[in-house]
Amino acid sequence: MTSFKTLDDLGDVAGKRALVRVDLNVPMADGAVTDDTRLRAHVPTISELSDRGAKVLLLAHFGRPKGEYRPEFSLRQVIPALSDVLGRDVTFIESALHDAIAKLDNGSVAVIENTRFAAGEEQNDPGMAEAFATFGDIFVNDAFSVSHRAHMSTEGLAHYLPAYAGRAMEAELRALESALGDPERPVAAIVGGAKISTKIAVLEHLAAKVDHLIIGGGMANTFLAARGVDVGKSLYEKDLLDIAQNIFEAADSANCTIHLPYDVVVAKKFAANPPTRTINVHEVAEDEMILDIGPAAVEALADVLKTCRTLVWNGPLGAFETPPFDMATVSLAKTAAALTREGSLVSVAGGGDTVAALNQAGAADDFSFISTAGGAFLEWMEGRELPGVKALEDAK
Ligand code: 3PG
Repeated sequence: MTSFKTLDDLGDVAGKRALVRVDLNVPMADGAVTDDTRLRAHVPTISELSDRGAKVLLLAHFGRPKGEYRPEFSLRQVIPALSDVLGRDVTFIESALHDAIAKLDNGSVAVIENTRFAAGEEQNDPGMAEAFATFGDIFVNDAFSVSHRAHMSTEGLAHYLPAYAGRAMEAELRALESALGDPERPVAAIVGGAKISTKIAVLEHLAAKVDHLIIGGGMANTFLAARGVDVGKSLYEKDLLDIAQNIFEAADSANCTIHLPYDVVVAKKFAANPPTRTINVHEVAEDEMILDIGPAAVEALADVLKTCRTLVWNGPLGAFETPPFDMATVSLAKTAAALTREGSLVSVAGGGDTVAALNQAGAADDFSFISTAGGAFLEWMEGRELPGVKALEDAK
């Protein structure tokens, strides 16, 4: 298990200034936050530090303003939603940080304006880190979802202040460790989504690591095509057939079984509720496209999950946003949720669409852990060292 200091290792923090890296990069529409999951994830860390009398100074980015002030990326707009989930007042600090922080009472919570308005943030400028370190006494990183970035507020600051993992970061790292670091075997991974090209490194890493690699979504078509299956007019990546072949071989030599659908749901057009056929994967006509895994394959995959102790899931199995092509994802998510409830499976999921798909299946609450991270979750699935996490491990 990786080791890092947590809030349990903090002594008395009353009156201390805690610079806390959080992820406030939440979806918004018409000035309102449309999904506050990320905000809620930080409540334990912020509340604990505030209750212990620290001045809690939140560092975060919003969007990609590329080192310049752009009002549409101001963190000011997130303050009401954050204050709501915390049930506390939240001060917004835009400038004159030293003076503004000095005026805060112990236990108060403040958000410092978007770190990405300064070019030094993404450049991980040591000068900027050193200057920011004068605003705090300790650094807490609670933002796993930004830990794949070696930025001033995710990595640099850990070199200048005593650094600790916040509660959300701690929970995330422990869950990920139990899923792929030192998992109970057999381990299954479900990888879906449209394209292999975005997940080549993930697939290569998993093929060497897990016992069962279940491939769904558009990317399964490329693997089917690499096996010589005619996938009709399904989306697939012709230029990646060799890569798919290499992944088959890597899996073979690591004793990992790759599962591809043997029955599929096809349609002539990609639209909601078109006429469909459920057929053997070898029967796809040239004017048809594969849009979901078929029921027989889903049943077989459920049987695979029943033999497993650990599951890592990233990406939907079919075109789940368009009915009825969510059936395989929903059905397998329900199976995983039930197995987790029974205590026979540790289930960890993450990455963009995955969370939406599991929510749609009503299965998310039963999973052992759902990551709020997108890109960071994928890089972790690639087996890469995340700079923000490494900085916590290296911190003295
Ligand atoms: C995310 O939304 O995945 C994180 O906040 C990271 O954002 P970024 O991809 O702009 O670094």
